[in-house]
Amino acid sequence: MGVAVLGLGTVGIGVVDILSKNRAMIFNRSGVDLEVRKVLVSNPNKKREIDLAKDMFAKDIEEILQDDEIDVVVELIGGLSPAKEYIIKALEAKKAVVTANKAVLAHHAAELFAVARKNNVPLYYEASVGGGIPLITPLTESLVGSNITSVMGIINGTTNYILTKMSTEGSSFEEVLAEAQRLGYAEADPSADVDGLDAAHKLVVLIALAFDTHIKLSDVHCEGIRKIDPMDIKFARDFGYAIKLLAVGKKTDLGIEARVQPTLIPLHHPLASVNNVFNAVFVESEEVGEIMLYGRGAGRYPTASAVVGDIVSAARILSGAKSQLPRKFAMGSAVSVKKTVGCYYIRLMVEDRPGVLGEIANILGQNNVSVASVIQEGRAQDQVPLVFLTHEVNYGSLEKGLELIGRLPCVREIANVIRVERGY
Ligand SMILES: NC(=O)c1ccc[n+]([C@@H]2O[C@H](COP(=O)([O-])OP(=O)(O)OC[C@H]3O[C@@H](n4cnc5c(N)ncnc54)[C@H](OP(=O)(O)O)[C@@H]3O)[C@@H](O)[C@H]2O)c1
Repeated sequence: MGVAVLGLGTVGIGVVDILSKNRAMIFNRSGVDLEVRKVLVSNPNKKREIDLAKDMFAKDIEEILQDDEIDVVVELIGGLSPAKEYIIKALEAKKAVVTANKAVLAHHAAELFAVARKNNVPLYYEASVGGGIPLITPLTESLVGSNITSVMGIINGTTNYILTKMSTEGSSFEEVLAEAQRLGYAEADPSADVDGLDAAHKLVVLIALAFDTHIKLSDVHCEGIRKIDPMDIKFARDFGYAIKLLAVGKKTDLGIEARVQPTLIPLHHPLASVNNVFNAVFVESEEVGEIMLYGRGAGRYPTASAVVGDIVSAARILSGAKSQLPRKFAMGSAVSVKKTVGCYYIRLMVEDRPGVLGEIANILGQNNVSVASVIQEGRAQDQVPLVFLTHEVNYGSLEKGLELIGRLPCVREIANVIRVERGY
């Protein structure tokens, strides 16, 4: 299947790169062989981070629309115009369209889907909300039989980064914004992010999917984070809350509630631990209860990965696929746990006398088990707990060491050995 990519910026380059690098893998997994045949940019002479043959640059959209070898058009230009016109023209030319453009969907989803239906071609948009997080497909397909009652998300990475830094470092909004701009996490003109408009666009898309209703962007109550002071974050924490820029869509007796605003959420809520540039959407449905989808909401490869998933889905529909993805599995085996490396918590019950710790530490050392921390408790009891946290150790060596330790007269019991995940 032939693919044309409109826009070769952050995401476009990622898409072209993944499609070329992973072409064989994608074919193996999906049965579709995808080839990027044309790209369209605003300035073909610009120096880019990817090398493409000159003849791949289309001179205009018409060249792509008239090319019968192009089946899927991927819109990665962004903004409303000409993105909207190009999407409509491509659908009318019976090409499947994939877009990552939340703005065009927030304003024109109803119209664009009507054109897609009329022309009987697919329009996919997984990357428009939550970048690399599979979000649209779970909401539209996996939850098709569930009655969604609310969607609540941290769907703007820039503001989440700023609020996280303000919270951990106590710095002001202005200081953190300047740092975010230096690091490339915030645009030179940050207003679309910090005033909530970007999140509002995405909320319109989420609400459409969750409640089958396309609301107007102007119906979203939208407040940004400029007024948040580190003092507010501290007081909120004292009350047991985190402050996050939340996008909330809820079905209520009065109708659909749609708001983007800084919000206090309890520190124990899963959304409270979504930090830095990460995004997450918390969905509640009558049938499933609570689900949280978490991951990278932006960036070249996370976003491009979602776009490529859409291209495969669109290409399969066009090619009349009648089965699910034809995954093939090689027979294999997992590595023995004895060969694996990890950190461990070890609790021994030992005799309460001087020298015990030294004897045990010696054996651990001889078996290449390096200890990160020790807790020795007790006195005045027959046996006392002696607890170690190890650095990364080969499980086989640990087992050998523990076998020797178990034979020491001062050790009454190896009470527990528990794996520690992700260091400590
Ligand atoms: N960046 C992310 O992490 C991210 C995450 C999720 C969704 N998205 C969405 O993905 C889309 C693309 O974002 P991006 O960050 O990749 O944008 P970008 O880096 O600004 O790239 C935009 C591309 O569009 C091209 N372009 C602009 N006007 C054009 C026109 N009139 N005709 C043809 N090409 C035109 C530009 O050409 P030149 O290179 O010649 O200037 C550029 O290659 C947007 O809808 C965005 O909201 C982005």
